[in-house]
Amino acid sequence: MTASDRPATGTGPIMWGGRFGQPPDPLMWDYTVDRSDRRLLIYDLRGSRAHLDMLVARGVLGAELGARLREGIDRVDREAEAGAFVFLDSDEDVHSAVERRLRELVGAEAGALHTARSRNDQIALDLRLYMRDEVAAIVEGLVALVRVLADLADVQAETIVPAFTHLQQAQPISFGHQLLAHAWGLIRDRGRFLDLAKRIDESPLGAGAGGGSSVPIDPEVTAESLGFAATFANSVDAVASRDIACELAFCCARSMVGLSRLAEEIVLWSSAEFGWVTLSDTMSTGSSALPQKKNPDPAELARGRAASVIGDLTTLLTLEKGLPLSYARDLQEDKRALFHAVDTLRATAGIFTEMLATAGFHPPSPRPETSALDLAEALIRRGVPFRTAHEAVGLLLSRLGAEGRSLDQALASDLEAAHPRFLPADLELIDPAASAARRSSPGGGSPASVREQIAELRNQL
Ligand code: ARG
Repeated sequence: MTASDRPATGTGPIMWGGRFGQPPDPLMWDYTVDRSDRRLLIYDLRGSRAHLDMLVARGVLGAELGARLREGIDRVDREAEAGAFVFLDSDEDVHSAVERRLRELVGAEAGALHTARSRNDQIALDLRLYMRDEVAAIVEGLVALVRVLADLADVQAETIVPAFTHLQQAQPISFGHQLLAHAWGLIRDRGRFLDLAKRIDESPLGAGAGGGSSVPIDPEVTAESLGFAATFANSVDAVASRDIACELAFCCARSMVGLSRLAEEIVLWSSAEFGWVTLSDTMSTGSSALPQKKNPDPAELARGRAASVIGDLTTLLTLEKGLPLSYARDLQEDKRALFHAVDTLRATAGIFTEMLATAGFHPPSPRPETSALDLAEALIRRGVPFRTAHEAVGLLLSRLGAEGRSLDQALASDLEAAHPRFLPADLELIDPAASAARRSSPGGGSPASVREQIAELRNQL
C-alpha cells in the first residue's frame, strides 16, 4: 500500500496510514469496513465535484489541477454509470474507494480533493443526497397507490359493504368509502415525507471532521451547486446528527403500518369466509401441499415486513441515543437500517399498486342488522330519547333472534311490539343500500360522499 507521496514510516490505508507502524489486522479490517454504502457512489461523486469546483473557485486549488481532478471524477462517474466501477477489499468505504480510484487515474494529487473535507461531512452529505432522491421516489409511489385506490373507489362507489368495528358488522357504507379510508391515510403519509424533505434540504458539506476548516471554503457555494436550500449552522451538529435519518425511517415505518393494515384487510377479504376479493393469479402464490390453495402472500409479506421497518426505526433511534457529539463510527451502521426501511416501503407501495389494480372485488351485502341504528333514529325523530330507542331496537333484535329470524324478516307487528312509535313504513329503513345513501353528510359513508372524496383526493394529487 505504499505510495511515493507518503512518509516512509506510513503503513496501512493511504487515507490515514501515516501515523501507523503496522498495517490493519485483517480481522479488524473486515470488522470495520463498510460495503453497504456502495450504493452512495453516485452521490459521493456528485458531492466531490461540487467540492472541487468550490475549491477551485475560491483559489484553494489551481485551475489546472482542478481540471485534471474534474476529468478524473467524470471518468469515475462514467464507470459508476456503466456499473463498471470496481470496489476493492482494501477500500474502507465508498469515500476511500473514490479517492483510491481517482489516485489510480490522476496520481497522488488526487489527495488534494480531500482539502477541507472529511469523510464525516462527506457521509452526512451523501446521505442527504440519497434521502432527497428516495423521498421523491417514495412520494411518487404513494401517489400511484392513492390513484389506484381512488379509481377503485370510483368503480365501487355504489357497492355496499359493512363498516366494521371490533371486526363486527357495524353500519352499511360504500365499499369505495372503505378503500378511500386507506387513501387518506396514505395522503397523510405523503405529507410527512414532503415535510421531511424541507429538513433534508440542508447541506452539511464544509463541516469537515466536525469543527469546520481554516481553508477559505464557502459551504454556501457547494450547497447551492448541489441544489440545497440552506447550509449547516453548526459543524458539530452537521456531522453528528442523524435525526433526519430517524425521521425518514419513522415516515417509512408509519407508512408500512398503514399498508400493513391494508394488507390485513386484503388477507381477510380474500378468505372464503369474507369472499370480498379475488387476487389475480399473477399476484398470488400457491401451496406446495394443498392443490386448491391460492395465497395472498404479497399482502402477508407486507404485513410481516412492516415489523422489520419498525425495527429499522428502533435501530436508528437506539444507534444515536448514547453518542457523544460529534461523529462516532457507530453512525456507519445507520445505512443498513435506512436503506432497508426505504427499499421495503418502495417495494411494498409498488406491489400494492399492482395487486389492487389487478384484483377482482365482489363483496356480499352487509347483514340486515347493520340497519339497526336507522330504526333507532326513526324513533328519535319522533321524540323518543336515544337510550330508549336503542333499548327498543335491541329488544326487537333479541326477539327476532330467538325465533331464528333476521331483521329483514321483521313484520310491522314486530316493530310495534318493540315500541309504539314505530310505523309500518319503518320496515323500509331495513335496507343497507338506503342506509348508506342516507349518511350523505360530508365525509360520511354514502356513495355521494365517496364521489366528493374522490374529487378532493384527485385535486390534492
Ligand atoms: N464510512 C463512514 C460512515 O459511514 C464514513 C465516515 C468515516 N469517518 C471516519 N472518521 N472514520 O460513517
